[in-house]
Amino acid sequence: MLEAEKDQLKNEILHLAGAYNNHRSGLLPVLLHIQQKYRYISRYAMQEIADIFRIHPVEVYGVVSFYSFLSTEKKGKFIIYLCQTISCDMAGKRAVARQLENELNIKFGETTPDGLFTLKYTNCLGACDKGPALLVNEDLYTKVTPEGVFDIIQSYRAKFGAHVTMEI
Ligand code: FES
Repeated sequence: MLEAEKDQLKNEILHLAGAYNNHRSGLLPVLLHIQQKYRYISRYAMQEIADIFRIHPVEVYGVVSFYSFLSTEKKGKFIIYLCQTISCDMAGKRAVARQLENELNIKFGETTPDGLFTLKYTNCLGACDKGPALLVNEDLYTKVTPEGVFDIIQSYRAKFGAHVTMEI
């Protein structure tokens, strides 16, 4: 990370934390903002956040590693969270997972080489009676079928203006 980028990030964290008077209640909102903007929380960001909130970096790391929507590694622009909890599991989550992996040609936990998609499992999304459920960033999809996976993925490829491959 370049010095100018570090300065920018530090100023941004200072500004965000200032809205919470540098009180630790602002820790999660600040982390969420950084995650959304940079798609991950770098070591440098964690150190700066710890300094500004006057807490130990290990505590910041603990929060980042606890929440599945925060990450220390750069994620795709669109993160697909597939619910792995029992209702969705029984409703056919495994077939949906397989189709997601086939469609994107990656495994869960990985990011596509073009940086567009990351596949992750998550716990209950609160749509247990409409499983399998998944989130793409903040968009919730319910009763997802393997056949429906292609359309979901393509809609995000199209949003991003990425090359859209057609099924023949
Ligand atoms: S079990 Fe999947 S949304 Fe609740």
